[in-house]
Amino acid sequence: MSFRDLPKVELHLHLEGAAPPAFIRGLAKEKSMDISGIFAEDGSYAFNDFWHFLEVYEAATATLQSPEDFYRLTLAVLEESAASGVIYSEAFLSPDFCGGRDLVAWREYLQAIEEAAAAAEKTHGIVLKGIVTPIRHFGPEKAKETALCAAETVGDFLVGFGLGGDEKMGKPKDFAYGFDMAREAGLRLTAHAGEWGGPESVRDAVRDLGVERIGHGVRAIEDLELVDELAEKGIVLEVCPGSNIALGLYPSWRQHPIAKLRERGVGVTISTDDPPFFHTTMAREFDRLSDAFDWDEGEFLAINKTAINAAFCDAKTRQEILKRLEP
Ligand code: ADE
Ligand code: ZN
Repeated sequence: MSFRDLPKVELHLHLEGAAPPAFIRGLAKEKSMDISGIFAEDGSYAFNDFWHFLEVYEAATATLQSPEDFYRLTLAVLEESAASGVIYSEAFLSPDFCGGRDLVAWREYLQAIEEAAAAAEKTHGIVLKGIVTPIRHFGPEKAKETALCAAETVGDFLVGFGLGGDEKMGKPKDFAYGFDMAREAGLRLTAHAGEWGGPESVRDAVRDLGVERIGHGVRAIEDLELVDELAEKGIVLEVCPGSNIALGLYPSWRQHPIAKLRERGVGVTISTDDPPFFHTTMAREFDRLSDAFDWDEGEFLAINKTAINAAFCDAKTRQEILKRLEP
């Protein structure tokens, strides 16, 4: 069965990580940059493991050099998402890649992204909100500058603050200063954990950063007490099964813990992370999960409702999206 036309809510999408490879190749050509080494023969992104993926990601991102580039990127990404049935999306945005954490430049990049989002909403009916995300392996000092960019641009569009990058670099508490600044500015909080780190990384992110959602978080399954704690506290997981499988975290869809986490009462949601890198789309995620766990439209409606209820948007947007999810 195909769930392509089912309306969907996505909470975990890296804007640069969603760049179609042909789009990045086009930018590289315009700028006479040779990044041929990051592509496979069939034109897709090529990497061996997560750490190599981060390198390829940053090489691809180096072609994005102006607000205009991000305007075009945002349009291209939202067109793909809408074609998969996504009606509401939250994207991770990184001031590191948008003017090198300079506040004046960041405002210009953010404005371009926001303008593209407004255009895509008009054309495709998809709503986008932004989550500023420092890159963990760039270190806590840069994360403070990133948090300042975020705190200065909180608004209707910029609603959250997160943490991505190499989970094996440093501890969540190293980033507490930036998270405190973001929280005080009114941003809602999430962090990648429990992808490359074990259950303790999820515990640390909840305790030391005060996040209300976890990016991935799937390795919580290795500690059932933690699973129960997440369920009790209402901490929602932004699960990206296709990403986890592509990166070798789990050998198959049936062995992915999303169903077990859900059965034990944790709020789980479905996202793509970096879709072209992992040869996935939101439509494919839903189809594969339906194949693996026999999930039907009723289950997916419940999961989409969990997602929009955990979304960082305003109440009016939430109500509008909830209405559009109803069959
Ligand atoms: N940046 C882009 N994708 C990521 C992922 N899956 N984990 C951590 N950082 C990322
Ligand atoms: Zn991610």
